[in-house]
Amino acid sequence: MKKTFIPLLLLAVLGTTMLFSSFKRGEKKDSIDQRVEKLLAKMTLEEKVGQLNFVVGDLFNTGPTVRTSESDIFNEAIRKGEITGIFNIHGAAYTGKLQKIAVEKSRLGIPLLIGADVIHGFKTVFPIPLGETASWDLAAIERSASIAAKESAASGISLTFAPMADVARDARWGRTAEGAGEDPYLVSLVTAARVKGFQGKDLSDPLTIAACVKHFVAYGAAEAGRDYNTVDISEYELRNTYLPPFKAALDAGSATLMSSFNELNGIPATANNKVMRQILRDEWGFKGVVISDWQNILEMTAHGYAKDSAHAGELAIKAGTDMDMMAEIYLKELPKLVKSGKVDQKYLDDAVRRVLWLKFKLGLFDNPYLYSNPKTEKKQVRSKENLQAAFEMAQRSIVLLKNENNLLPLQASTAKKIAVIGPLADNKEDMNGTWSFFGEAQHPVTFLEGIKKYAKGAEVSYAQGCELYSDSKAKFDEAVATAKKADVVIMAIGESAVMNGEGASRANITLPGNQLELVKAIHATGKPIIALVSSGRALELTWLDENIPAILATWSLGSEAGNAAASVLFGEYVPSGKLPVSFPRAVGQLPLYYNHKQTGRAYEGDHSEPGSERVYKSRYRDVPNTALYPFGYGLSYTTFKYDNLKISNDKLAAGEQLQVSIDVTNTGNYAAEEVVQLYTRDLVGSITRPVKELKKFQKLAFNPGEKKTVTFTLAPADLAFWGADLTYGWEPGDFKVFVGPNSRDVQEASFTLLKSDSL
Ligand code: NOJ
Repeated sequence: MKKTFIPLLLLAVLGTTMLFSSFKRGEKKDSIDQRVEKLLAKMTLEEKVGQLNFVVGDLFNTGPTVRTSESDIFNEAIRKGEITGIFNIHGAAYTGKLQKIAVEKSRLGIPLLIGADVIHGFKTVFPIPLGETASWDLAAIERSASIAAKESAASGISLTFAPMADVARDARWGRTAEGAGEDPYLVSLVTAARVKGFQGKDLSDPLTIAACVKHFVAYGAAEAGRDYNTVDISEYELRNTYLPPFKAALDAGSATLMSSFNELNGIPATANNKVMRQILRDEWGFKGVVISDWQNILEMTAHGYAKDSAHAGELAIKAGTDMDMMAEIYLKELPKLVKSGKVDQKYLDDAVRRVLWLKFKLGLFDNPYLYSNPKTEKKQVRSKENLQAAFEMAQRSIVLLKNENNLLPLQASTAKKIAVIGPLADNKEDMNGTWSFFGEAQHPVTFLEGIKKYAKGAEVSYAQGCELYSDSKAKFDEAVATAKKADVVIMAIGESAVMNGEGASRANITLPGNQLELVKAIHATGKPIIALVSSGRALELTWLDENIPAILATWSLGSEAGNAAASVLFGEYVPSGKLPVSFPRAVGQLPLYYNHKQTGRAYEGDHSEPGSERVYKSRYRDVPNTALYPFGYGLSYTTFKYDNLKISNDKLAAGEQLQVSIDVTNTGNYAAEEVVQLYTRDLVGSITRPVKELKKFQKLAFNPGEKKTVTFTLAPADLAFWGADLTYGWEPGDFKVFVGPNSRDVQEASFTLLKSDSL
């Protein structure tokens, strides 16, 4: 049985391959461009607009259009060539079935793109992107994206709507969870690493997928942190803060890009010629596909920018938005617009060219079933190695925010009875995080499960204490009683998976429901508490910081959440994460980011400090301006001493470099990693400059007692920005350079950047 089965299967596979290679035999010698032109020449107007129409599948809904699950809803449209691809479906068998209709039943046999929001893992769920960024480990982040690519590609997917490159400085904005935080440099590096991870070296590799960097652009600058809201920012801000991560993603090779929902300075991004044509296509020379976000072509009518669907379609295609996600406006309106001459045929042809080019690059014309192979799917999805990588990524994402009297790591001698309390303690589903509909809810390891596994010999008890959102105190008594019997209490609190992400802005960024009340009730027992705080944003944790001895930021850690957190709690892994966002003291401080401007009346200290001159400074009467936990901050179980900051020269000229070095010593008892960070400040500029800007960092391992001289190289190009005349370059003048373990606790030196003619 076995013997006959294998040859038969082999024959089937060989047959399929031969079929496609013979189908392509005549075309093999042509370049992709030539193949695209040949195909384009055969296409009718209707077939062309069909190649621009991208629709959601029948498995998950990730937008406001509700699709009832009817089987075969797409068959007819695929046959007629009205669909370029389907997104948010998966499964080698299912995608293969749909692909077969496209290839065998449509007139030109153009294969489908299968897209998906593979944002932080597929079936093996990794920490949310904000959490992964806290690792400051670009190699690990790239590996995470490459595993997500392997699993999803093996399940039929050829394109992911990731990475999100939006700089996020307002924690009210729920989508902070999906990005890499508040700093343009860090966001750029992380975004590029993700693109490389998804795409690998070759898009036609069956285990890589195309990336789609999103959301172009300035979506993260939504007023009041409210999703989809208006954005009005200067071109300086746009170019210095919001555009660099997109440029980095495209330089890393992102094959596609998604336009954002927001209007930008009065013009919806999807039809914003300034960013879409001038910057993206002309300045940057982007040749890939631009995909609209969900119905955002149609939403231009709601914005009050397009008068109807036809007008919206015309504006979008002329701005260079190639694919229409979910509005079906191109499908319905573009043929008429082209026939009437309102839209030049060239716009349509260029868009179709780019889409076909992508499909060729993905290898879909050579083998439409490349990504739909059930055997590969079985091997790749949730493999042991993938889960191990998710475990390691989760460990590295955790940030230790407070550890009074070295309560952590837990010692078997003092933690004989451990109470695990809180709505996230034994909660599988919420461990998966915001974009995890492919990851099954039953899979993640809960904090309670992880703690039981690692607690070896200790007695572990559990009480939920309260629901995630409810105001009921019905379960408080049981939780308090559980805490009273314990030596130490671990509380798992914070946001559910759906409290952050798309459409999940919050005006209050404290612990939801009555969780803080629960923490207070447990605190009243006098037991030492360790708080595992999960969130997709910087939360306001002021009371916790004042009262709870140990606090860990645990984001949404994914499939291995419980194991990773427990390995940190018990000291198997020494935390090394650093915050990619500033944690505020109060929601009223938002937007809050370390790289702010100085103002003419710079903050000099708290309102409570003496000195009437402080009244007329840029500050609040009720809270300090500073973050509770600053950008770049994170503790370890060991301690690090920073001293001996040296700069190789106090002058820097064009074509030269400066070495900035500092001695870092592990002064504690644990081997650990530390992220050494370098910031600069340009003291006077043709436009005002941020008080600090991250320019370099190194994550290094230290044994106890080990000292390393950490050296950074700075060149004039590192100091370039978009200045008053809107050109990019560096300006001579005085600079400060800062080095330290976070953006606040730094040592500083100075240097002068010389004019080019003083060389
Ligand atoms: C809307 C989101 O803004 C975008 O990020 C996502 O990729 C699409 N929906 C598809 O789900």
